[in-house]
Amino acid sequence: MDKIGVWSVIKHEIISEYLSAYCRILHSKLVTVNKKEWCKGYEYIDAFSGDGLHLDKRSGEVLEGSPLRALKIEPSFTKYHFIDLDSKKIDDLKKRTRENPSIRLYKGDCNKILIDEIFPDLTYDSFKRAVCILDPYGLHLNWNMIKKAAEMNTIDVFVNFPVMDINRNIMRAKSSKIKSEDNERMLAFWGDESWKDITFESKTDLFGYEYEEKIGDYKKLADEYRKRLKSVAGFKYVVKPIKMTNKNNGPLYYLYFASQHGVAIDIVRDIFKKYSTHMLK
Ligand SMILES: C[S@@+](CC[C@H](N)C(=O)[O-])C[C@H]1O[C@@H](n2cnc3c(N)ncnc32)[C@H](O)[C@@H]1O
Repeated sequence: MDKIGVWSVIKHEIISEYLSAYCRILHSKLVTVNKKEWCKGYEYIDAFSGDGLHLDKRSGEVLEGSPLRALKIEPSFTKYHFIDLDSKKIDDLKKRTRENPSIRLYKGDCNKILIDEIFPDLTYDSFKRAVCILDPYGLHLNWNMIKKAAEMNTIDVFVNFPVMDINRNIMRAKSSKIKSEDNERMLAFWGDESWKDITFESKTDLFGYEYEEKIGDYKKLADEYRKRLKSVAGFKYVVKPIKMTNKNNGPLYYLYFASQHGVAIDIVRDIFKKYSTHMLK
């Protein structure tokens, strides 16, 4: 079992609170009006699902992870998609979710599975809606998948912006110091090279030598990422993210929420506000 800290417990609370509101609203739309259904289904997608259980770092207590928590939301979702790259985690999750015909389990890279197998069934004309949780440990999200999610017009996303991985592997003194595999992960995550212009600047010293200066930090990147979710990916609304920190106030990640629907945004904004205050205490 993966060990988690208080920030993950808060993340679970935030997501569950939104899922409860979402299911209440969408369930009431599963009605037929003039022989036309407003909504034919509302689905839960956990793209980095894990195996369903975690160990609380402080207390050693076993805690339920996002997929098991989602299964407890009432009214329930009409379908659940759980994906993990680690096939053992999916096998363990399968044992923990027992026989439930509304669950689909996938072993593999979510960036591909979402685009090839899940999103095609969630077109606007399908009258289905979905919430997708994108919660990796590091830079494992592909921008083309996020962009596709926005284009579907039917999917709300929670996105984990991995500050720790970015600080450790991308925020180097010079861009030439970034390992090539980290460069590639960042390129896939950001979608193009523009993150470099935000982070580094080429300068010339008094003797004409060129050197590079780091001009950005994770906060600047996170801010730009929010703008990108709107202007490049095409989500109509993106809530100001909530910053998750460790007990020494060190940044771990930002949790973003993006949607095509204003109502969803108002709900999440209120939830984020409540938990930000809670974290400052
Ligand atoms: C932070 S954990 C997920 C925790 C879970 N969302 C929860 O709150 O209970 C991240 C998971 O993503 C999985 N993973 C990493 N890269 C992946 C990828 N490309 N596609 C799908 N799963 C991946 C890891 O095996 C790990 O179980």
